[in-house]
Amino acid sequence: MNVMNPIRVNADRAPLVDPFGRTISYLRVSVTDRCDFRCVYCMAENMTFLPKADVLSLEELDRLCSAFVDQGVRKLRLTGGEPLVRRGIMTLVSSLSRHLSAGGLDELTLTTNGSQLEKYAAELAACGVKRINVSLDTLDPDKFRAITRWGDLDTVRAGIDAARAAGLAVKINAVALKGVNEDEFSVLLEWAHGAGMDLTIIEVMPLGDIGEGRLDQYLPLSIVRARLAEHYTLEDIDYQTGGPARYVRVAETGGRLGFITPLTHNFCESCNRVRVTCTGTLFMCLGQSDAADLRAPLRASQSNELLNAAIVEAIARKPKGHDFIIDRRHKRPALARHMSMTGG
Ligand SMILES: C[S@@+](CC[C@H](N)C(=O)[O-])C[C@H]1O[C@@H](n2cnc3c(N)ncnc32)[C@H](O)[C@@H]1O
Ligand code: SF4
Repeated sequence: MNVMNPIRVNADRAPLVDPFGRTISYLRVSVTDRCDFRCVYCMAENMTFLPKADVLSLEELDRLCSAFVDQGVRKLRLTGGEPLVRRGIMTLVSSLSRHLSAGGLDELTLTTNGSQLEKYAAELAACGVKRINVSLDTLDPDKFRAITRWGDLDTVRAGIDAARAAGLAVKINAVALKGVNEDEFSVLLEWAHGAGMDLTIIEVMPLGDIGEGRLDQYLPLSIVRARLAEHYTLEDIDYQTGGPARYVRVAETGGRLGFITPLTHNFCESCNRVRVTCTGTLFMCLGQSDAADLRAPLRASQSNELLNAAIVEAIARKPKGHDFIIDRRHKRPALARHMSMTGG
């Protein structure tokens, strides 16, 4: 049931196509920069969050997402910060679900740390959410606490159980951290695949100042993969999600294992996605700082004309690819913004 806006039947708008011929069909929206965890690779412990007035209201987020759907976006992922700590978040999910029933959207999904899933899993499923990504880097409670600083493993595991019980397919995302969880990937793999969940391992990205050296965390996935290959048969498969993950089938478990290596350029050619922050800033590429402000046109008028024009103009500037580097001399991140701003 839509509680915010009436169904807007799409105008005969052309799909969003960038200068390199890539159709933009996937939008990731960070609905808040706040979080109930402080993962060491993502945030400093004493983060300063955005003033509330800068953050889009739920109604504005709905309008923004709907404008993208009207322009051909077929998949919407809510992320953050932690999307499920945003007050009233289910109002937004429920409202956006009208695009699923109306056929404008193929998928409405979210990436979450799992801390609130016990509370929301059933409602998410009732809104038409079919799959979610849950971030979990270790099954060791002490390590989990050390990585997330504020998180509790049992709560997250109970959340994952609740999600599965509600019929949601769960994919586990684990960030590979040198010297922290590097010896745990077979345990995570057996656990995830044993429960019918895909596992994706993510290479740590140099985003935002987190108060610790990036070089200390960086663990190339080529090493992770080579180590796993000593114990498992990894068969390349053609499974594509339109994203940066490369998937293999693990013969011994029958499950799918993905590797996301954003520091290589292996996925820019097929990039179909853009990201918008909770303040309405559109990033056309995760690895570039060029951005477009959508909040001003959104707030400037009730109609979506200015907003739509700003979206089209921004997509025309989507770059061909990114340029991630960890600045080794100064040990600085290549991009100053945090992952919690764009949501990964
Ligand atoms: C920013 S979080 C937002 C959603 C939610 N709070 C969560 O943790 O799933 C999205 C994903 O980005 C990952 N992430 C955060 N900082 C990262 C970094 N510097 N490098 C690689 N992945 C990162 C997280 O592990 C998580 O899987
Ligand atoms: S990775 Fe997700 S859970 Fe961890 S601090 Fe960042 S936003 Fe929060």
